[in-house]
Amino acid sequence: MPSDADADAVTRTANRRDLEEGIRTDFSEDLSYGTYLDLDRLLSAQHPRSDPPQHDELLFIIQHQTSELWLKLLVHELRSARSLLMADELQPALKRLARVKHIQHTLTDQWAVLATLTPSEYAQIRPWLATSSGFQSYQYRAVEFLLGNKNVDMVRVFDHDDAAHHMLDELLHEPSLYDVFLAYLSRRGYAIPQDVLDRDATQPPALHEGLVDVFAAVYAAPGEHWGVYETCEELVDIEDNFQEWRFRHLQVVTRTIGHKPGTGGSSGVDFLRRALDLTFFPELYAVRSRIP
Ligand code: HEM
Repeated sequence: MPSDADADAVTRTANRRDLEEGIRTDFSEDLSYGTYLDLDRLLSAQHPRSDPPQHDELLFIIQHQTSELWLKLLVHELRSARSLLMADELQPALKRLARVKHIQHTLTDQWAVLATLTPSEYAQIRPWLATSSGFQSYQYRAVEFLLGNKNVDMVRVFDHDDAAHHMLDELLHEPSLYDVFLAYLSRRGYAIPQDVLDRDATQPPALHEGLVDVFAAVYAAPGEHWGVYETCEELVDIEDNFQEWRFRHLQVVTRTIGHKPGTGGSSGVDFLRRALDLTFFPELYAVRSRIP
């Protein structure tokens, strides 16, 4: 009688894994992985334009497309976090924000793949990109708007695309995640200044000292305001992560095109560097200087 150990050894030597009886192989009637995910469409949506074909164009396309998929999920999660906060459901909203942070890390880590593209390899595909640029990513603007970095000029970029224009115009006028957090705090009895609650949602937030006072009280006694304190720190994590993405983009752009202008018509790295001065939650940063 061969022992179990002998049988194991035979399986290992054969170096193959037999299918189990229950594993499905006939999808003439049943739902398959590819059908559920619409993989035919997804995997036939890469259309390199270079002629003669350039090996690296597929990397360039896939890096952008995967970023757009993750941005789609970010928009979905941020919208949901915003609705949950509006309904006073703080803990479920925090769960959404935890996922947001992981997606951001994935997006930032992904830069390492594109960083393998050398300046000369990029130069081979640059002519075929023509005037297209990540600057025209409406989902990236949607994330910025949801977090509060509103800018009406960005909406004009989508005059040619009704659906994108409509989405951004709606988000421009709707309260940001930060706005709904402040309204939540007000409902919970925090002394959020009225002019903060009534502020024009289409504008980016401007530092308000009265609001810093509210956060200073929270940071002075975290134990008494734990949920609020935790949410403030989650928001700072999200801004931090967003800045990391911006910085990695800037670094990859610098090593790829130096100080040449971008395909979208900007000065390139100088324009991108100025984005590092933008903040979503000014008071959550200002409060740090108040902590004794
Ligand atoms: C070698 C690759 C890349 C280069 C050389 C590059 C270059 C640039 C430049 C120069 C700009 C400024 C606008 C312009 O004039 O075009 C820009 C903006 C932007 N790019 Fe890229 N990019 C690259 C990859 C990516 C990838 C993979 C994404 C992912 C979606 C992306 C997303 C964006 C976004 C969202 C903006 C707007 C940023 C802002 O408004 O501050 N880029 N890019």
